[in-house]
Amino acid sequence: MQINKILVVGAGAMGSQIGMVCALAGYQVTIQDVAADMLAAARSQLTDRMDSSVVKGRRSRQDAEAALARLTFTTSLEAGAADVDFVIEAATEKLEVKRSIFAALGRAAPEHAILATNSSTLGSSKVAEETGRPQQVCNMHFFNPALVMKCVEVVRHGKTSPDTVDTTMKLARSLGKSPVLIDREIPGFVANRLMGAIRDEALRLYADGIASVSDIDTAAKTALGHPMGPFELMDLVGLDVSYLIRQATFEETQDPADLPHPALKELYEQGNYGRKTAHGWYRYDQSGTRIQ
Ligand code: 3HC
Repeated sequence: MQINKILVVGAGAMGSQIGMVCALAGYQVTIQDVAADMLAAARSQLTDRMDSSVVKGRRSRQDAEAALARLTFTTSLEAGAADVDFVIEAATEKLEVKRSIFAALGRAAPEHAILATNSSTLGSSKVAEETGRPQQVCNMHFFNPALVMKCVEVVRHGKTSPDTVDTTMKLARSLGKSPVLIDREIPGFVANRLMGAIRDEALRLYADGIASVSDIDTAAKTALGHPMGPFELMDLVGLDVSYLIRQATFEETQDPADLPHPALKELYEQGNYGRKTAHGWYRYDQSGTRIQ
């Protein structure tokens, strides 16, 4: 299947960068969000990122401008979906929200279009039936920051067709990513399960008073060679995202061990989501630089 036009639903940190990755690879991209201010912020952040990549000599001014020109922004899901070949949904990690988005996509997107979700926890089987085309639904899970991280998890559910898997894997490769195929839905898939094991241990060490947040992060970087410590990573991904993923996992498994850690819950309930609110495990200034 030939892909020309891609719709990305959700203009948050993930959706906006996924849209930019697609535009850089030459696709026509629409980024849709119900919130006009999110779209404006996404446009301005992506323009800044492209400017800085030109200044660093990563790409030419002409290429950056051409990629930005391939991006369109809209608040209308129906308008965005009207003539697309592929949809990547990157809205909030709430099942009811995703269900209604996929039902609308099923009505508005052309029959041939593949409808993928970037969800890291909710397997696409949970939204597939809403679309009327469950064989064309799968997970296409990117990692934060999507402009940089190479991994994309492609997850099939019981009814995902081989053509859908094949097209999604090919699309990921065409974006310069290294897709991995996950043959069965499991909460957290592969990468988040690995990361979760480290994060949970880090939270335990901190909550038990064994070491400070920054010393645990330092150990992960200097002993294990990780680019970021687990607390820095939670701040990057968003404590709201980490919390909601954990909550969704618990709702699926009903295993109390999967509940969000109380220390994470406390920050979430205070509205301290990490870099995006300038306060999480660490504090940040307006430019996003860590100050504490
Ligand atoms: N958005 C886009 N690009 C970014 C970025 C961001 N938020 N932060 C850094 N970058 C880019 C920089 O522009 C730079 O690009 P360049 O090579 O073209 O100059 C490059 O990344 C390296 O940045 P820096 O030199 O400033 O800093 P680092 O070398 O420390 O790299 C990092 C930053 C890439 C974020 C690195 O620390 C890293 O890989 N961290 C781990 C990230 C990670 O584990 N992500 C997975 C999270 S889990 C997830 O997303 C799953 C979801 O379901 C929750």
